[in-house]
Amino acid sequence: MQPITDIDIIQDSEDLDTPKQVSAEVDGTRNVYLETYGCQMNVSDSEIVASVLRKDGFGLTRNPDDADIVLINTCAIRENAEQKVRRRLSTFRSKKEKGRPDLTLGVLGCMAERLRHKLLDEEKLVDLVVGPDAYRDLPNLLHQANDSGQAAVNVQLSREETYADISPVRYDSNGVSAFVSIMRGCDNMCSFCVVPFTRGRERSRPMESILGECQQLVDAGFKEVTVLGQNVNSYRYDKNGKAISFAELLYQISLLSPDLRIRYSTSHPKDCSDELLHVHRERENVCNFIHLPVQHGNTEVLERMRRTYSRDEYLSLIDRARSIVPGISFSTDIIAGFCGETEEQHRDTLSLMELVRYDHAFMFMYSERPDTYAARKYEDDIPLDVKKRRLTEIIELQTGIAKEKNEEEIGRIHTVLVEGTSKRSDEQLCGRTDTNKMAIFDRLDFKKGDYAEVRVTDCTSATLLAEPMIVETAH
Ligand code: 5AD
Ligand code: SF4
Repeated sequence: MQPITDIDIIQDSEDLDTPKQVSAEVDGTRNVYLETYGCQMNVSDSEIVASVLRKDGFGLTRNPDDADIVLINTCAIRENAEQKVRRRLSTFRSKKEKGRPDLTLGVLGCMAERLRHKLLDEEKLVDLVVGPDAYRDLPNLLHQANDSGQAAVNVQLSREETYADISPVRYDSNGVSAFVSIMRGCDNMCSFCVVPFTRGRERSRPMESILGECQQLVDAGFKEVTVLGQNVNSYRYDKNGKAISFAELLYQISLLSPDLRIRYSTSHPKDCSDELLHVHRERENVCNFIHLPVQHGNTEVLERMRRTYSRDEYLSLIDRARSIVPGISFSTDIIAGFCGETEEQHRDTLSLMELVRYDHAFMFMYSERPDTYAARKYEDDIPLDVKKRRLTEIIELQTGIAKEKNEEEIGRIHTVLVEGTSKRSDEQLCGRTDTNKMAIFDRLDFKKGDYAEVRVTDCTSATLLAEPMIVETAH
């Protein structure tokens, strides 16, 4: 999944490992502090967790010192993400040992299944371990842990669970954009990726419940939804014998309101269909932006990664998308230093980046994950200093490309959805263009949730600086 960030370049994704949010205040019998690591899907899952807990009378607090229960929604995608979560758990554990014996400490999400024995038995770090498909069971498990003083565990993965009927509590939302989960799990089995093991088999949420949630968001004044899944392009839902595709689903969401912008993440290049590209072209409110992880620029490495497309197939997909949807923008994920990567193969990644010229990229060093195909079959043989140097070359190239692409925007006019006040100044607002570029401009009379027409005047590699277009009103 695409990490959440204001900036377009993340050195081995520091940002991915930073907690995104803690919960807003809601009083209850026992108060929960919830901290979320990892991708957008985890943020969305935490909103489901908040909903399940609130329904059962638990309160939510922003302050861990006020909490009776601390829950950490974890990420296992790379080793450093896992280490960060462990350090955080140790901090809470020592709080518990130093005068807060009643504090319940729980691990949710992707680390749950793999590390449950370690976390529970060996390191005795936590009282509760709950996998991503067992959140309905949380109140029960919390009561159980509280009553018995024994650890409570449910890491069962499901083939059906989509939490379709649970209304997420958007506790830290900006009131403008929201995530809507449309499917869970992944059947792709990319050789480097732990997600199919931590999140289980792919399953799609019924279209009616997705449309219902989006309609509620429209009614509540939201202006943007990002629909989420590990691999949204393989969304499939059977409605009265008719298979609904992802393209059809997007089309249906786009009909709900012309004022609602629609984005999605993450899409796999192998099944990015022409039908989908035509939805981008035809529906104004389906944003002209696709996060299309390439992972690598060399066909042999892509084969070993089990990505099921070649360099040329990926490049022709980009060409097709650009010819069907002129002006469409792309971001990507790239892995440096995968097993057996030669210097020449690394240069293929650089040359692919030069050909595609991504607007954004999330760039990572390969990190071996236990149980994956790569861990079992290949040697993690690229020395750390070589991985680092290759990643740096990739990042430097992308920074230059992003800056040049942003410079090309100077003088252009964009419609920006206002998300809030800019971090730089209270006098300025920030928001995204249709193509997912962050723009900063003077506040004037605009407010959060407005669409503002702006002209780009300057830029950095990460941000467009812009001026609002003054609309002359007739008297
Ligand atoms: N090592 C490095 N990066 C990884 N990703 C997934 N697994 C690994 C790994 N083992 C990256 C991929 C994916 C993104 C979410 O994280 O680029 O698209
Ligand atoms: Fe992991 Fe590949 Fe599935 Fe993405 S598509 S979650 S990288 S296995």
